[in-house]
Amino acid sequence: MHITDDIKYIGVNDHSTDLFEGQFDVPDGIAYNSYVIMDEKIAVTDTADKSFADEWFANLETVLGGKEPDYLIVHHMEPDHSANIDAFLNKYPSAQVVATMKAFNMMANFFGNDYSDRRLVVNEGDTLCLGKHTLTFYTAPMVHWPEVMVSYDSTDKVVFSADGFGKFGALDVEQDWACEARRYYFGIVGKYGVQVQALLKKLATLDVEIICPLHGPILTENLGYYINLYDIWSSYGVESEGIVIAYTSVYGNTKAAAELLAEKLKAKGCPKVVLNDLARCDMHEAIEDAFRYGKLVLATTTYNGDIFPFMKDFINHLTERFYQNRTVAFVENGSWGPVAAKMMRKMLEGSKNITFAENIVQIKSALNETSVAAIDALCEELCG
Ligand code: FEO
Repeated sequence: MHITDDIKYIGVNDHSTDLFEGQFDVPDGIAYNSYVIMDEKIAVTDTADKSFADEWFANLETVLGGKEPDYLIVHHMEPDHSANIDAFLNKYPSAQVVATMKAFNMMANFFGNDYSDRRLVVNEGDTLCLGKHTLTFYTAPMVHWPEVMVSYDSTDKVVFSADGFGKFGALDVEQDWACEARRYYFGIVGKYGVQVQALLKKLATLDVEIICPLHGPILTENLGYYINLYDIWSSYGVESEGIVIAYTSVYGNTKAAAELLAEKLKAKGCPKVVLNDLARCDMHEAIEDAFRYGKLVLATTTYNGDIFPFMKDFINHLTERFYQNRTVAFVENGSWGPVAAKMMRKMLEGSKNITFAENIVQIKSALNETSVAAIDALCEELCG
């Protein structure tokens, strides 16, 4: 694939992994992107997952057309991109590897070699001239690992953005960008909003026409759309007006309450209501929804003097990603000693700028007149 006259795509599509990074369902696969800059000096950026080594090397050789690469630029050391570094350096003995010092320390851990005899350690603002193209390196620690850097080619106005602007889904599948980019962002980078903001500030100083991430499509048009979403996500802003109801239910009574609340909110004209059964939906879809919308209702049962496990897991996912700036309401069920609302609130107490709804819906086993009235009151408070 041709990105510009001199920049070529040599990545691969993975449709075989069951769980990306050991936890993310990727029904449409995932792409491991890698690029070659063909200039007086030839630079290869990143590699690919180990299972695709042969395909990646074949793509590389096609682009090289018998030439030898001069540099391997390593933006990120996570093995989905770094697995073939050692094989690359063995295959091309005159090539140098370019990365941050933190990346070389990781190479020592992964490969037992920090390549001190053939490496170029780069720091913030360092440049590498390839001939017509000059790359400038910008560190991007914790987007998504500490060694990460991005690079900018001022000739073609291209940013190699590492995991930034990445997306689930292989490149041979057509799909909406935002949906799977959002699930990717909040699943993988969501904890590091501050660091993503810092990177966006650096990118704002550059004249960028093309973004080449390590996953997902190469972005060539309407870059403001993607950058604006990244700005909202990384500043924990509300992307869309709406209410997410995330629930767990053992015998269907909490589910009935969640569904009734959803129905009533819709009848009131609430712009968007999303229902997620945490035991059955993709947990990372539910996380994405919680960060997308401004209001969240958590409905669960009291269980072992605490809350139902899927809800506990969900709230932990939110708090470890610094969930903030939202309105949160509670629906609790408990047949003899309901404590779920108290326990859920406790889990969120360290979260910044959370407005807790005044109305708490308490169900004792099954909905009755009192709990339905409480649902009406919560409905009014959330969407009055
Ligand atoms: Fe795609 Fe953080 O690696």
